[in-house]
Amino acid sequence: MSPKSVPEGIWADQPFKLLDTPGKDKPLSDPVVYVASHMALVHNTFIRALNSIYLHAPLIAPGNKSLARDMLTYCQCWVALVALHHQAEENFLFSAFEKRIPAAKGILATNVRQHDEFHSGLDAFKKYVEIALAGGEPYCSEKLLKLVDAFSEPLMKHFADEIPTLMRMQEAGQIEEVMKIHEEFEVIVRKDIDASKVGPMTLLNADKTFEGGKHPFPVMPKFVPYLIKYLVSRKYAGAWKFGSCDYWGQPVTLFMNTPEGKQALKAGNE
Ligand SMILES: [Fe+2]
Repeated sequence: MSPKSVPEGIWADQPFKLLDTPGKDKPLSDPVVYVASHMALVHNTFIRALNSIYLHAPLIAPGNKSLARDMLTYCQCWVALVALHHQAEENFLFSAFEKRIPAAKGILATNVRQHDEFHSGLDAFKKYVEIALAGGEPYCSEKLLKLVDAFSEPLMKHFADEIPTLMRMQEAGQIEEVMKIHEEFEVIVRKDIDASKVGPMTLLNADKTFEGGKHPFPVMPKFVPYLIKYLVSRKYAGAWKFGSCDYWGQPVTLFMNTPEGKQALKAGNE
């Protein structure tokens, strides 16, 4: 593995805190540890991307039309990625656990309920982003972050709570079934994918050096990052400057801290 690159300045591990994985100090060969760790890594991808939104958005002046559009597009892609994950959890993962592992029913109840606590906040964020992109409202970072603040607490709690919940599947037994359900969940997520939105968003926020680089996440054939970088990313090309990693999972200096980014932000704010 190549040495960990060190991004300059503030990075996407704040203000929302990244999650430790159970695999940090437990063997990933245990299917439940693997599944719960994988979920933490997915959630961390969402958290890094949201952190990047939170850090960059206030630096973009309303008159900086080009950067504002790119940020709103990045937000739109983030919503698409998080929605895809939660829909697959609601439509398949939670119900599959409950149906196929009877002892899981009580374990998952809180997590299912938690989805209701951030849905309306996420919807309001999505609505504003769509209206602003369509020109129906001006770009306003205060409004954008206020909308994030309205759902971030329950969302972060949910992201964190789901990991120990999945670890409790060890109590329910049927450990091999946990792995099987998770594999099916991965297939379902990939089937419904809007690749041009969620492909780059995932790769550009999945830090392969996390926890010493012990997690092979996301797992994909070697050609896929090339395909996403050179082809799939084109549709929303302007958005990807806000990512926190390169297409191969190496952390990069955030756009706001690069000479190019500083220049672009300054130009629009003059
Ligand atoms: Fe999740």
